[in-house]
Formats: sequence, C-alpha cells, structure tokens
Amino acid sequence: MPAVMPGPSPEPVRIPLVTEPWGILRSLAAARRNVLEILPEISTRQPIVSGKTGKRWHMVMDPPTLRHILKDALDDYPKSVVTKNILRPAIGESLFVAEGAHWHWQRRAAAPVFSMRNIQNLGPFMSHAADRASERLMAANGRAADLFDEMVTTTFEVISDVTFSGDEGFDRASIHKAIDNYIDQTARISLFDILGVPGWVPRPSRLMSSGALKQMKQVADRAIEARAASAADPGKTPDLLDLLLAGEDPETKRRMTTPELRDNLLTFIVAGHETTALTLAWALYLCAFDQSVQARARAQAQDVLQGRTATVSDLSALPYIRQIIDEALRLYPPAAMLSRTAMRADTLCDREVRAGDTVMLPIYALHRNHLLWENPDTFDPDRFSDPKSIDRFAYLPFGAGPRVCIGAGFAIQEAVIILATLLGRFRFTPVQGRDPKPVMILTLRPEGGVWLNVHTV
Ligand code: HEM
Repeated sequence: MPAVMPGPSPEPVRIPLVTEPWGILRSLAAARRNVLEILPEISTRQPIVSGKTGKRWHMVMDPPTLRHILKDALDDYPKSVVTKNILRPAIGESLFVAEGAHWHWQRRAAAPVFSMRNIQNLGPFMSHAADRASERLMAANGRAADLFDEMVTTTFEVISDVTFSGDEGFDRASIHKAIDNYIDQTARISLFDILGVPGWVPRPSRLMSSGALKQMKQVADRAIEARAASAADPGKTPDLLDLLLAGEDPETKRRMTTPELRDNLLTFIVAGHETTALTLAWALYLCAFDQSVQARARAQAQDVLQGRTATVSDLSALPYIRQIIDEALRLYPPAAMLSRTAMRADTLCDREVRAGDTVMLPIYALHRNHLLWENPDTFDPDRFSDPKSIDRFAYLPFGAGPRVCIGAGFAIQEAVIILATLLGRFRFTPVQGRDPKPVMILTLRPEGGVWLNVHTV
C-alpha cells in the first residue's frame, strides 16, 4: 500500500498538554524536560486550575484575576523564589529580582532610561544589526540556515551595543558566552521549587561554577568605571549605560553604585537578548509556515522600504509586520510561565488561596485559552489589526502592572525593524522534517533551532 503523505498541518507546532492526572514523579520528570509539559489541557479551557503536588498551587488564566494579582494586589503576590534563585547569582538584587522598596527606587531611577525618545535614539543600533544579519543571510542564499541562531547573534549585537557602546576593552563575545553557559547550566530547574519538594533532593543545576560569572562581573565593572571617569562625548548617542549613570530616583535622589549599575546592565542583557531573538525566530518560523502571511508582509516591507534597511521612522508604516510580532508573542510567549507566591489568604475565581500557595500564571495557556481566543492554536496576525479589541489582561507577553517589562517598547521596536528588513530582502520556506519543538527552559525555545531555507528576492 502506498504510504499516505501527511498534508500540511493547519496549525503551527505546539506543546502536547497533559490530558490525564499524573503522579508527582512523572510531573517532575516532565518538568525537567520541558516545564510546559506539566500544563494540563484544561488550562486552555478553564479560568483556574488548582492542585497539590507536595505544595498547593493554582494556575490562573482569568483576565480580571490576573489584573488582581499583577496590579491591584501586587504586594500580596511577590515573584516566587524559583526564577529569582536562578537569576540572583548572575544579576544580584537588580530590577528583575528585587522586591519592595529596593525594587521601587530602582524602577523609578530606570524608568526614564526607557522613555520613548531614548529608545528611538537607539534605533540606528537596531538597523545596523538588521543589516549585518542580512549580510550573513545573503551568504546563506539557496541553503538552509538556523534562524534562531542568527537571531541570537543579531539581538546580542544590539543589546551589547546599546549597553556598552564603543567600549573597546569590553569583550562582548566572552560576556555572551558566560551568560549563555550560566543559563544553560542553571535554568533546567524543573519545578522542584514550585512544587515544594524538600531541600535535600539533589538539584544538579545548582552545581555550577561561579568562576565565569565572577570574571564577567569584573569585566563589566571595569567598563562602567572607565565610562564614569571619562568625560561625556557630546556627539555620541547616550546608550543605556550613559542613561543609567545619569539616572536617579526622583523621590530619594539615590543613584546606583557600580555593582548596582552592573547588575542592572547585565539584567538588560539577560532579560533582553534571548527573549527578543525568540520572538523573531518564532515569527520567522510562522512566516515560513504560512506563505500567504509572508507574502503580504513582504509586500508591505518592500513598499515602505524599497530595499532599504528599516529605521525607527518606518515603524508606523509597518503595521502588519507589528501584527506578526504580536501574534508570534501570543503563540510562543518567550516568558511562557510567570510565578508568584501568595503572602496571605485570598479568594481567586471562587477558589480558596492560602498564604504560601504558589500562583502560576501560565502565559502560554492564557494565550491559547478557548474562553478568550477564537481558534487559539491557529496563526492569524489579523487578530491584532485593532489592538483595542484585545483585553489587556488576556495578552501578557510582557506581564502587566507595575512590574511590566521595562524593555517592552525597546523589544518591539527592535523586532519590527529586524523582521521588516529581512522580509523585504528574503523569502523563507520550511525545511521538511525540521519543525522546531517548543520547549520551555526558563524561556520558550525552539528545540533543534528554526531551520529555514533562505532565498533572496
Ligand atoms: C520580546 C522580548 C521580551 C519579553 C517577551 C519580555 C518579557 C518580560 C516579562 C514577562 C516580564 C515580567 C516578569 C514578571 O512579572 O514576572 C519582564 C520583566 C523585565 N524585563 Fe523584559 N521582556 C523582553 C525584553 C526585554 C528587554 C529588551 C529588556 C531590557 C533591555 C527587558 C528587561 C526587563 C526587566 C528589567 C524586567 C523587570 C522589570 C521589573 O520587575 O520592574 N526585557 N520581561
């Protein structure tokens, strides 16, 4: 009998969710492989799912309740220790990790750094990186390339240029390697902490060497001190380091010390580069998956850019490219699972919550919840043609409330500039049998890379 060739799948790749109750050991094994594989299928059909696996937990997918947790009752739901424990050795008590007053003053001091005007001024760094990515892809014309790998290189170039621009002695490659190694070693945390498994359970991820981290911090400290000591160059666009050096908390007038500056700049590098690379890689995968979307996007990019590299002033003329980015962030949110700890008793969606309970915000399941989205697993950038039609708390790729991502505007600007530039110059098609597999290890990554055939147009 001739083999039946499967037709093209109508939906892009997704994570197989759990349809049967699992024992704790199986959950833990799955969590080590892929944190999102512990998500029950019902989390895409219900507003809340609760359980007890060593520790009481709740998964919340209900927009008004998410608003309560992230905004109205912020102080009752601090970030859980899990992510903080992973990140603290690398980025200290910086903006991402700190809580309470120590978080507050840093956020007030850093907020102006990310003003729209400052971000727009950094646009040329993004256009430059988009151009360099095009050059590399030109060399891959007619072949398959791993676009995830390419996008990691591209976004790292942007973030290192806008943090330590022009610092000759600053070895970007070694910082990049140290950060990537660190995350690879530590991020396979599984849900040991979330599920409250006793502390004596060995956690191989903790057995990392701190040598590379120490060295990375020293390199950054030296670059910061050299910059602080040198006179500002009036002709140079201020980068994130210049802006943060000049920043102060308007309430307390406090300024950051060298270690605080370093921890925050490293935070921007850690929080900003892989997440944006993932957004772009998944967006490119989706464009290759749906050639009609890609053709429409290319028509817009070519019409506006006429072969040029995109710049900040093109952004308002590229709405469809932006919609593709928004839809990629819905289907594959890089921060696919946020986690909080309840500090006191509460009621969430009629469920009793006790102090100490873990409250998970599975953004992946929220973005694919059937109560909130029509055909949630299909790729349809037109969902975002009228952003006002989207419930603010149903779409949380950047979180929300006072702890919303400080770099959201930066990331979107960068992603649109790079995607528009690439789609204006290249056509991407899938490589048979090499679909990426979505796996969450701290972020939602495409296991195996995003391999696409590259064709110049
Ligand atoms: C597409 C790219 C990005 C995604 C999806 C993303 C996602 C997020 C999310 C979901 C949070 C909130 C975490 C929580 O509430 O638990 C967050 C916080 C944060 N992000 Fe981003 N991010 C991105 C890019 C960036 C960039 C480019 C930067 C800096 C240059 C950055 C810096 C930060 C910082 C400092 C925080 C902590 C803010 C605070 O707690 O006050 N992120 N990000």
